[in-house]
Amino acid sequence: MRAIHPTFVAVTALILAGCTRQSVWSPAGPAARDLERLNWFVTGLFLIVAVVVLGLVVFVASRPRGSLDWHAPVDVGGGHSWLIIGGFAIPAVILAVVFISGLQGMSKFPLEGGVRTPAELRLVGHQWWWEVEYLSPKPDLLMTTANEIHIPVGRPIDIDLASYDVIHSFWVPELHGKVDLIPTLTNRIRIEADRPGNYRGQCAEYCGEQHAHMILTVIAQRPEDYSAWLTHQREDAAAPVTPEEKRGQTLFLTRPCVTCHTIRGTPAGSHVGPDLTHVGARLRIATNMLENNPANLAAWVTHAQSLKPGVRMPNITAFNGEELQALVAYLSSLK
Ligand code: CUA
Repeated sequence: MRAIHPTFVAVTALILAGCTRQSVWSPAGPAARDLERLNWFVTGLFLIVAVVVLGLVVFVASRPRGSLDWHAPVDVGGGHSWLIIGGFAIPAVILAVVFISGLQGMSKFPLEGGVRTPAELRLVGHQWWWEVEYLSPKPDLLMTTANEIHIPVGRPIDIDLASYDVIHSFWVPELHGKVDLIPTLTNRIRIEADRPGNYRGQCAEYCGEQHAHMILTVIAQRPEDYSAWLTHQREDAAAPVTPEEKRGQTLFLTRPCVTCHTIRGTPAGSHVGPDLTHVGARLRIATNMLENNPANLAAWVTHAQSLKPGVRMPNITAFNGEELQALVAYLSSLK
């Protein structure tokens, strides 16, 4: 038996690993269902057009060739109506119907000019991660996290969309269409999930080298689970317990990590990179590229530039093996 080439195995594994469902054909909320209906309608309409046009092509191509005389110009009388109806009137009607259906779909977006109620969330795009701010009129209830958006099921959630640097685009196909995150502007999107689940999203506007890895997860939870999550997230980070975790915290606060990240409840308060207060509780790291486990955390700290070339996170070479283990133990404990 021929051995399977390692490249084939690696590529297949990568493809399968990336096979989280992310599809406009499996809507999980009202806005996405509207868009799915529009998708089916437009796809069906254009299929009919394609079948008719291809049918005519086959009909013309399969006619006998005949002689030169046979092709001499003749006055068939009224032949122009074919052109006017088939070439202008029918396409105009079809395009108008599609345009109006599209406008109807767009009217579901809470755009500028509508009644503005305060959003519950603010999402800020960065090259290449998502800053997620849970808003509140009470300053002590404000909370920032990254790359995962938790929402309660069964009610619409308004999200303000902004950008720190270049244009990004919010796209979680199972919940809604795309809306851009534009520097100096604030856009608004309203998402609603009607069943609990994890919905994968993706930056949908090319924003630089790691655009393809600017992944987002929306985690829709039952309202009571969501409240519990939110209450816990608003708390400061857990204090380290074991000697190893304590050592990890000291290392975090005295080595390069502290210059970019926040861990609430510690002196670390920089906002260059994602807030790590509860990083241990996140499903994935590296903007949802890697599973959140100690091996991947260690790899990310030391080899971010190999895993995601160009990312703002440098390769941190300041740790020996034992120190790295302590740092990872501390980060993993931040549930
Ligand atoms: Cu952010 Cu593409």
